[in-house]
Amino acid sequence: MAYDLIVIGSGPGGYVCAIRAAQLGMKTAVVEKWATFGGTCLNVGCIPSKALLHASELYEEAGHDFGKMGIRVGAPALDLAAMMKFKDEGVDGNVKGVAFLLKKNKVDAFQGVGRIAAPGRIQVTSADGRTETVETKNVVIATGSDVARLRGIEIDEKRVVSSTGALVLPKVPAKLLVVGAGVIGLELGSVWRRLGSQVLVVEFLDRILPGMDLDVARSFQRLLQKQGVAFRLSSKVTAIDTSGATLKASVEPAAGGTAESVEADVALIAIGRVPYTEGLGLDGVGVKLDDRKRVVVDAHFATSVPGIYAIGDVIAGPMLAHKAEDEGVAAAEIIAGRAGHVNTDVIPNVIYTFPEVASIGKSEEELKAAGIAYNTGKFPFTANGRAKVNMQTDGFVKILADARTDRVLGVHILGPDAGNMIAEAAIAMEFGASSEDIARTCHAHPTLTEAVKEAAMAVEKRSIHM
Ligand code: FAD
Ligand code: NAI
Repeated sequence: MAYDLIVIGSGPGGYVCAIRAAQLGMKTAVVEKWATFGGTCLNVGCIPSKALLHASELYEEAGHDFGKMGIRVGAPALDLAAMMKFKDEGVDGNVKGVAFLLKKNKVDAFQGVGRIAAPGRIQVTSADGRTETVETKNVVIATGSDVARLRGIEIDEKRVVSSTGALVLPKVPAKLLVVGAGVIGLELGSVWRRLGSQVLVVEFLDRILPGMDLDVARSFQRLLQKQGVAFRLSSKVTAIDTSGATLKASVEPAAGGTAESVEADVALIAIGRVPYTEGLGLDGVGVKLDDRKRVVVDAHFATSVPGIYAIGDVIAGPMLAHKAEDEGVAAAEIIAGRAGHVNTDVIPNVIYTFPEVASIGKSEEELKAAGIAYNTGKFPFTANGRAKVNMQTDGFVKILADARTDRVLGVHILGPDAGNMIAEAAIAMEFGASSEDIARTCHAHPTLTEAVKEAAMAVEKRSIHM
């Protein structure tokens, strides 16, 4: 029996695409090689990392801040195995949720590695080596991404780990070396620092979080340093000697020079992720890849081969779950003959540390490079009543608005709950709001969101509480 659509990969891109396609009346199936649905995000990414970030944040709060609020609990004790169980239960609940949703929407599932044998023919090889071929009118490639590796450094997921190994460490490493000051390095570095590790982050560039507004990145780095995370910028790890009981990493200046040996119990390699297309048979059917091995698609997610589409981490753009999901919806709608679309200018980016970092739209550096004149409104959480009473005053909200039209071009928040607050900026930007629109919108008091309103007022230098 032929399907209207087969989606290869059941991550946030793939499963959402399949559900939307089924809603639109298409006979749909997913092919997934892992035992559970949900892809990187649910199994070894967003969900388990957020469980550990949440638990470790509360652990730190219990140890440092409860006393100040009159809550006496004594020194908290870490039961790492129980914390890992808490995380695993969260993952289990989420992947089962996807299985339920697929079933509810009558999406068929094939367990095994999918390969495009020819346009309209998908071969599925299950773990026991059996193969079956399924016919379909359309295919969506949603195979996601994999860990980027450092040449000459083998990831054993025990002592030299990727994010996957760093989510299941059986004991707190006394010394954790993080290679790469990107999102994974800072989130998982924060988890293990809170649980007791001494953390050193080695970053190739002269700044953390490339792409992030520099003002925000610098302020964030200072806060992380205050928390005890050490940084070595403009440096690279060229080798890790694993022969002894302790790892010995060679750390060199990025431009080359004398190497220094740095000891660690665990090294986390977090230098990015690469699109995953292995074994898909793309060469055979003529699906084009770009120079970074990403599947090339047009504005309608169509690849170079008619009837084959691609979405999520395997194509260009930020490697984010919500970007993959929105592309999944759009691709399904386009295949169904509707007008699916994703506005790539308005995709929020959140780092779930404490404080959180959230941004959307353009950074100051991007606006300068594009020659766009802008006004800046900035408001610190030290001047926000709710942040003050909660004693969580680190950070600020920054709004960048077009100097001519006042249209909001970028919003950057460093502060508690920034990840939730950025949603307001996303809506405003989708509706083409000006900073004045945000400034004149009533925000509840006392909330952290008032800092967003005040930052909007600060664009025209009329914030009230500064
Ligand atoms: P994936 O989620 O990678 O799913 C691809 C699926 O395809 C996998 O299940 C894989 O098994 C399957 N597959 C691959 N090839 C085949 C094949 N040939 N046959 C059958 N199945 C196949 N993003 C956020 O937005 N927020 C976060 O907080 C966040 N945290 C993260 C934390 C970590 C530690 C990591 C590693 C990533 C995180 N991300 C986060 C990124 C997010 O996980 C990805 O952007 C997202 O999962 C991409 O979705 P996707 O559907 O494109 O691919
Ligand atoms: P990243 O691209 O965010 O950061 C990698 C960092 O490593 C960069 O700062 C880069 O300059 C540095 N680097 C590269 N090569 C290096 C080298 N040889 N030595 C030292 N530093 C080096 O990649 P990361 O952190 O691995 O995350 C991968 C992807 O997963 C990200 O693109 C992100 O989109 C996604 N993700 C998203 C999360 C979120 O939304 N909260 C959480 C975790 C991951």
